[in-house]
Amino acid sequence: MLPHSKKSSSLLKLHIITWGCQMNVYDSTRMQRALKPLGYTDTDDITEADMILLNTCHIREKATEKLFSKLGRLKLLKDQRALKGKTTLIAVAGCVAQAEGKHILERAPYVDIVMGPQSYHRLPESVAKISRAGGRSLNIDFPTESKFDHLPENLPQNKSEVTAFLTIQEGCDKFCTYCVVPYTRGSEQSRPVIQVLEEAKLLVKNGIQEITLLGQNVNNYCGKMNNGSHADLAELLYRLSEIQGLKRLRYATSHPKDFSENLILAHKNNKKLMPFLHLPVQSGSNRILKAMNRGHTVEEYLETIHKLRSANSEMAFSSDFIVGFPGETETDFRKTLDLVHSVNFAGAFSFNYSPRPGTPASEIAHSLPQPTLEQATEKSERLAILQKLLRDQQDSFNASLVGTTQKILVTGFGRKKGQMQGRSIYLQPVHFLGDDSLIGKEVIVQIIDQGTNSLAGTLISKEAS
Ligand code: 5AD
Ligand code: SF4
Repeated sequence: MLPHSKKSSSLLKLHIITWGCQMNVYDSTRMQRALKPLGYTDTDDITEADMILLNTCHIREKATEKLFSKLGRLKLLKDQRALKGKTTLIAVAGCVAQAEGKHILERAPYVDIVMGPQSYHRLPESVAKISRAGGRSLNIDFPTESKFDHLPENLPQNKSEVTAFLTIQEGCDKFCTYCVVPYTRGSEQSRPVIQVLEEAKLLVKNGIQEITLLGQNVNNYCGKMNNGSHADLAELLYRLSEIQGLKRLRYATSHPKDFSENLILAHKNNKKLMPFLHLPVQSGSNRILKAMNRGHTVEEYLETIHKLRSANSEMAFSSDFIVGFPGETETDFRKTLDLVHSVNFAGAFSFNYSPRPGTPASEIAHSLPQPTLEQATEKSERLAILQKLLRDQQDSFNASLVGTTQKILVTGFGRKKGQMQGRSIYLQPVHFLGDDSLIGKEVIVQIIDQGTNSLAGTLISKEAS
């Protein structure tokens, strides 16, 4: 039986599961919109889904195993639905699809579509074709046409949404030795300035107040302008800040190597740009940074942080760290702790090194003798020590805000009755008593309490100047 043969196309249900980064979240939204003209509407209930889309992430451990274990469960669901005469399309998108496409089709014959991140604009066509004629589809090439030119507009999912992602650049040419992204997302491409501005204006027109610009190396943005010249990220941020009604701008993820003086100045002059920056450093040892092919030293990283703090005293930072990179010694690790102490982060993510197939570091890792139990224990202890230090810094940062008044962008309802939730300038969730007339407004809240991941406060003023 062909998929959807029993359903009128206007009743089709789509369930998307998204793993990984913010860019995957953005991509899932756009794929969801691309499937609307085929009659698909979103459902939270996977058992009623006519199509299940897994948007996968390949960046760290066991991505492939995680996918196949999920697919095993989806097969049971597909079989159960088939017994009731219902068909279910299963599609796998994202970086695991890109890296393992053929393998997925071979090992999971019940998967209908496999699609890499550069081909999402072709998804409706593949779905329509399979629904009509059956068969399976694999799309993991890097097409010459840009998906951004062919995907439908990026609009908020529902009217009450206040914040949105906007991908301005994709792919990466940095080839950090541990990372799969250059292989799964392809080479770095920036979207033209006019396209970004139009997308941002449309989002703002539809109620969005805060936009986070996305790119794997977003601070290396180099977008074509109509006059043939190029704009850097600072210039783009300036143009975006001129959009009436847009209150806040952020960008992620930056690379320390590409931090220009212009961008540092933007943190001083662009009042819509939030003073919170995610700037991954990975390690505090120059020897390890070199082996990672990061292209910068610890000293250069600290200098950038210092310049940003001098440009804007409100700046706070988060970062990413990898522990247990091949060859990392106790001395290297101590240097990472030293760096964390010197910066004092507002939050950070830290991971155990995970060998990714096809990356140079994984070849080195495989050529080294298997770690002894003692060495493996040492590595997990290192991660625990780093995570405790980072958590303590995050707690102290949050504690430092208790008693202050903060400008909060109200994003929706809190978990408790009568409670609203918003975002601080540092992206912390803040809860306070209020009502839904505040959604989308910037209000003043006095912070009265802190948790590790959120703050609580009292509404002081419904208007922030
Ligand atoms: N092992 C562990 N962490 C990794 N990251 C990327 N590749 C790996 C890997 N092979 C981490 C980096 C990066 C974040 C998105 O994921 O810290 O900044
Ligand atoms: Fe991966 Fe390095 Fe590119 Fe970031 S800069 S996506 S870590 S290769």
